[in-house]
Amino acid sequence: MPRQGKKRRAVVTGGAGFVGSHLCEQLVRAGSDVVCIDNFATGIPANVRRLSGKEGFRLVEGDSTRPMSVPGPVDIVFHLASAASPRDYLRLPVETLEAGSLGTRNALRLAADHGARMVLASTSEVYGDPLQHPQHESYWGNVNPVGPRSVYDEAKRYAESLAMAHHRAYGADVGIARIFNCYGPRMRDDDGRAIPTFVRQALDGAPITVSGDGLQTRSLCYVDDTVAGLLALADADITGPVNIGSATELSMLRLAELVRTLAGSASPIAFIGRPPDDPRFRCPDTRLAAQALGWRPRVSMEQGLRRTIDWFARTRAADPGPQHGTVPTVQA
Ligand SMILES: NC(=O)c1ccc[n+]([C@@H]2O[C@H](COP(=O)([O-])OP(=O)(O)OC[C@H]3O[C@@H](n4cnc5c(N)ncnc54)[C@H](O)[C@@H]3O)[C@@H](O)[C@H]2O)c1
Repeated sequence: MPRQGKKRRAVVTGGAGFVGSHLCEQLVRAGSDVVCIDNFATGIPANVRRLSGKEGFRLVEGDSTRPMSVPGPVDIVFHLASAASPRDYLRLPVETLEAGSLGTRNALRLAADHGARMVLASTSEVYGDPLQHPQHESYWGNVNPVGPRSVYDEAKRYAESLAMAHHRAYGADVGIARIFNCYGPRMRDDDGRAIPTFVRQALDGAPITVSGDGLQTRSLCYVDDTVAGLLALADADITGPVNIGSATELSMLRLAELVRTLAGSASPIAFIGRPPDDPRFRCPDTRLAAQALGWRPRVSMEQGLRRTIDWFARTRAADPGPQHGTVPTVQA
């Protein structure tokens, strides 16, 4: 299979979503051919508009929970198709479980049909509300299996288990990326995740809604860095799981203040209720990613936030769209 530096043909499920569209762009930029498969449950064709018509890029409307076939060679399958924001997966609970189970099975089969490697976009949510800090890959997690968030957390835990079973039973070439909170341009401003919500509220001059006392933490990684981590895992010979995330941890209150400052906003901070099973801490142990992939995030929080705020401001100026009221923030 072609590894680093060689032209390859990639399939990206969920490629019209936030992370997937950046991944498609990076792949095309590096000279790879890309087949993007998406059912537009939470993503939109506009996310890959810049790629449409480019040689080597194909957008296919398709559902990963149905068998997928791609004519011609495939070297690598990136399996990202799944709702990812709490607001989306709480709205699509069964679909989310099916994306993690049936979708992952079909992505593994697609990869096997072509003798390709599969990179699974798993999540830090497999650690649940962690009792270990920071979270090392060897930690098994603390997940409520019947709580509202379980549709996402357990779907991803099952997806990891299924990938490992295919690896052990059939020798499948898989790489499992545990992605920690990632942010950047093309997040939907109504997806309920903290950064797009805070940015929208700051730009509107509306109250910035922080849940609980705001002392819960997240470690936020700029999307270009996350994508570089996925590409490094695609090129590596390890199965993982590997944490892909920034080790710079900050509280949601600090994040709200930072967004407000960088947006030049005078929005007040408003405290709202915390959603059930919301994790208190989140911070990756990134030593494995550094050692095995030679990967570490490069974009500072301030640089990443500036780019994100600029993108939201430009997008809204071009198309103000519907005005959103104050909606509760969920820190994914
Ligand atoms: N963004 C993050 O912070 C983060 C953190 C951890 C893990 N991840 C994982 O990365 C992946 C991408 O996340 P995102 O933030 O870009 O989310 P997103 O919602 O923007 O993108 C997901 C994409 O998958 C598509 N999709 C959903 N179900 C599908 C199906 N059954 N068939 C085909 N397409 C389907 C959606 O339409 C969308 O385009 C997800 O698997 C998510 O679990 C993301």
